[in-house]
Amino acid sequence: MERYTPEISDSIFWVGSKDWNRRMFDALIPLPDGTSYNAYLIKGSRGTALIDSVNPGFEGELLDKLRSLTDAEVLDYVIMNHAEPDHANAIKAVMDVSSEAKLVTTRKGARMAQVFYKIPEQRLVIVKDGDTLELGGRTLHFIEAPWLHWPETMFTYVEENKVLFPCDYFGAHTAAGFYDDEVENLIPVAKRYFGEIMMPFKGKGAQALERISGLDICMIAPSHGPIYRNPERILDMYRIWTAGETQEKAILVYASMWGATEKMIKAMAETLMSEGIQISYFNLLNSDIGDIARELVDSRAIVLGTPTVLGEMHPLAVYATHLVKILKPPLRYGAALSSYGWGGGAVRQLSEMLKPTKIEVVGAIEINGPASDEDFANIASLGKELAAKIRSSG
Ligand SMILES: Cc1cc2nc3c(=O)[nH]c(=O)nc-3n(C[C@H](O)[C@H](O)[C@H](O)COP(=O)(O)O)c2cc1C
Ligand SMILES: [Fe+2]
Ligand SMILES: [Fe+2]
Repeated sequence: MERYTPEISDSIFWVGSKDWNRRMFDALIPLPDGTSYNAYLIKGSRGTALIDSVNPGFEGELLDKLRSLTDAEVLDYVIMNHAEPDHANAIKAVMDVSSEAKLVTTRKGARMAQVFYKIPEQRLVIVKDGDTLELGGRTLHFIEAPWLHWPETMFTYVEENKVLFPCDYFGAHTAAGFYDDEVENLIPVAKRYFGEIMMPFKGKGAQALERISGLDICMIAPSHGPIYRNPERILDMYRIWTAGETQEKAILVYASMWGATEKMIKAMAETLMSEGIQISYFNLLNSDIGDIARELVDSRAIVLGTPTVLGEMHPLAVYATHLVKILKPPLRYGAALSSYGWGGGAVRQLSEMLKPTKIEVVGAIEINGPASDEDFANIASLGKELAAKIRSSG
C-alpha cells in the first residue's frame, strides 16, 4: 500500500496519522472534527531523527511510513518534545524496531520516558535549552518550553529549513486539511484548542513566544492539526490570546430544570445585547465544553445561571464553574442568576467557588420561583451595570 508521507520541507517528511473518528480527548474534550497526531522524519546526510510519534493504536501506520522512507531499523534519534501518550506512546514500538536509536528529551522528559514507557537510561540523551544536534546538513536546536502542555515540554527548531516543531503548542484538533491555508475557518478551531489546552498556561505560553521571537520561522509544524506554512497568522493570534486580551464580550452559561433560571438568563442576554455587548450563550444541557472554552479565551465577563438543587448548585453548573476555575480564562467580571423553590443555596455555593478566581462578581440575583416583573427590572439593571464595566475596561 502506498503511504502518504509528504515532504513538508527539504528532507523533512510527515509520518503522522489522521484520526478522523476520534470524538473525545483526555476523557474531557469533545473532538467534532477528529484530530491528527503529526510526527516527522528528518533525514540528514549523517543521521535520521523522528520528531514525536503517534497515539496508541497507530504504531503500525507509523512504522510502515518510516519503512517506506528509510531503513526504520537504523533510526539514530527519536526526539520527544512531550511525554503525553498521544505523541510519545508509539516511541516504545519505534525504539524496539530501531534498537540503536537514542531518545532525546529534557531532563523531566527523560524521567517521564522511564516512568511511562520504561525506556532504559542508557538510551536517553538529555538536552537543555540551547543545545543542538547535528544530523549532517540538518541542525536541530532544542528550546525548553515548559508547561506547554506538561512540565517537560520543549520545542525543536531545524535551522537549515527554518521549521519549528512545538508539539502541542500551536496545535488544533482537526483531522481536516494538511496546511493552514487548506482548512476553512481554522482560527476558531485553533482558538478552541487554545482555550481547552493552553489557556491555563498563558504566562508560560507568552514566555515561549518571547523565546522564539528571535528565530527566523518559515513553517510551524505542530503535532495536532494543520502545518502552518504561513506562520505569522497563528503567531499573531497567540500573542493576543496569551496576553489575555479580552473583547467587549460576555459568555452566558447556565442550567435550568423548569425554565425559571433560563428566563433570567435570556433577559440578561437581551439587556447585554441592547447595551452593545457581544454575547455567547450556552445551555449546559446541550453545549459542547470545547465551544465554551473557545469563548472563554477572549470574553471579558461571564454570567452563570443555576437553580438550587438539593440545597446546592445544579451539577452541570458545578462542572462548568469548575472548568472556569481550572482553565483560568482572562475574565474580569461575573454575575450570578438563580431561582429556588424554598431554602435556596446555589448562589452561596457559586460565590464560594468563584472566590479563588480573579473574577469580580458584579452582582447575584437569587429569586424564589419564576421571575416577576420587578425581578426582570433588577436583572436589567444588573445587566446595564455589567455592560458599563465591560465597556469601561478595554
Ligand atoms: C430535583 C430538585 C431539587 C430541588 N432542590 C431544591 C432545594 O434544595 N432548595 C430549594 O430552594 N429549591 C430546590 N428545588 C426547587 C428549584 O430550585 C426551583 O423549582 C427553581 O425555580 C428551579 O429553577 P429552574 O426552573 O431554572 O430549574 C429543587 C427542584 C428540583 C426539581
Ligand atoms: Fe499534551
Ligand atoms: Fe497532544
